[in-house]
Amino acid sequence: MMKDDTHLILHRTSQTEIRNGITVIVKGEGINVFDQDGKKFMDLDSGVTRPVHVGHGREEIAKAVYDQICNLAYFTPCQFANKPAIDLAGILAEITPDPINKIMFECDGSEAVESAMKLAKHYHYYQGDKSRFKVISRKGAYHGVNGMGVRALGTVMPMRQIMEPVAPGGIFAESPYCYRCPYGLNYPDCEIKCARDLENIIEFEGPDQISAFIGEPVQQGFGAYHPPKEYWPIVREICDKYGILIIVDEVICGFGRTGKMFATEHLNIKPDILTMAKGLTSGYVPLGAAGCSDKVYEPIEALAHLHTYGNHPVSCAAGIKNIEIIQREKLVDNSAEMGNYFLDGLRSLEKHPSVGETRGTGLWLAVDFTTNKETRAPFPVSNLMNIVARAKEKGFIIKCMGMALEFAPPLIITKENINQFIPVLDECIREEENAMGL
Ligand SMILES: Cc1ncc(COP(=O)(O)O)c(C=O)c1O
Repeated sequence: MMKDDTHLILHRTSQTEIRNGITVIVKGEGINVFDQDGKKFMDLDSGVTRPVHVGHGREEIAKAVYDQICNLAYFTPCQFANKPAIDLAGILAEITPDPINKIMFECDGSEAVESAMKLAKHYHYYQGDKSRFKVISRKGAYHGVNGMGVRALGTVMPMRQIMEPVAPGGIFAESPYCYRCPYGLNYPDCEIKCARDLENIIEFEGPDQISAFIGEPVQQGFGAYHPPKEYWPIVREICDKYGILIIVDEVICGFGRTGKMFATEHLNIKPDILTMAKGLTSGYVPLGAAGCSDKVYEPIEALAHLHTYGNHPVSCAAGIKNIEIIQREKLVDNSAEMGNYFLDGLRSLEKHPSVGETRGTGLWLAVDFTTNKETRAPFPVSNLMNIVARAKEKGFIIKCMGMALEFAPPLIITKENINQFIPVLDECIREEENAMGL
């Protein structure tokens, strides 16, 4: 256990949690990780921030990284190129949805989002549209922690407030969270008001000042929420009317998480810009990327941007090997198949009085909780965290998001793993409901 006598600062972890002791993970193997006392956990959120698509402990990625370091560990992304970056950009141009065709590499998802927003701004600038600086995001959105991304951070808690003031120009639309609709409407009678309202927002903010709309295909904030099928085509139509670019943020969804290589394939739209990270290297080394269409790239004379570690050859070598594994082992198909199986298992838990909605897209799934199924009343986060703690005690790592439990296991998960977990989750929910008197 790590306590407050070490020198390490943890991200988003309270002093109380640290005083109570922090589990130190020392080893990973397939879908499992082990702590320093040798206790084994099934990792049902792929390293908790969900990058580890190919599972833990892949020696071939280590070998690819080793070979690249021996060959060329580093060279600038500015006025020089390196082979792994060229090759990975080619692979991504091939597997990302049309019309994404040009790729730049950064260190993580937050930087990918920054670059995406800069690409949008450059595109407009070089067209002579120099006043377009605003970006529309959605309440409940998460797009990372850097300057421009924080501007698009639709969360309410301290994360946003502490970092304010952020770069000006952040505008927020409502999210397509039908289980607790922000307008109090019901789908489909709502006529997708959350998408149609975008036009009012654009008119109010000034169409000639808006550069881009950014959104996650499946949204993290409420627990793996996928929008109704009409949502994105309506957004696309409105954005086209006003010359606003669409950035699809695939940082979590990309590389098979939702049962397709990219979740955009579920959306029935073509993006202008697309962000990637996490599953791009399965978290083995840091890497993020922003891709854009030729339409966006061609007017840009030169990108006013330089990161020392942009287009990093070692990270790109890891990305190439990782994608090779995803394709060779058909992990995208497994995500679709095991996602359905997992969702069936979660549906069996709807018998519980506190389980409001179960949902999933591929291997990104959630159980949304409530204290009243009729009114969909909020469920206390402290009780959700108790369920997470109970599961950990029994050897399963899961997480909560919004009022939901969220599952995003490595894409190698098997039926046996799922069969092992569902009865344990059932028991954890029952124990917590008993403690709450539900
Ligand atoms: C949709 C989305 N965009 C951007 C980010 C930021 O990525 P990173 O944490 O790698 O900076 C995240 C992180 O979870 C994310 O979910």
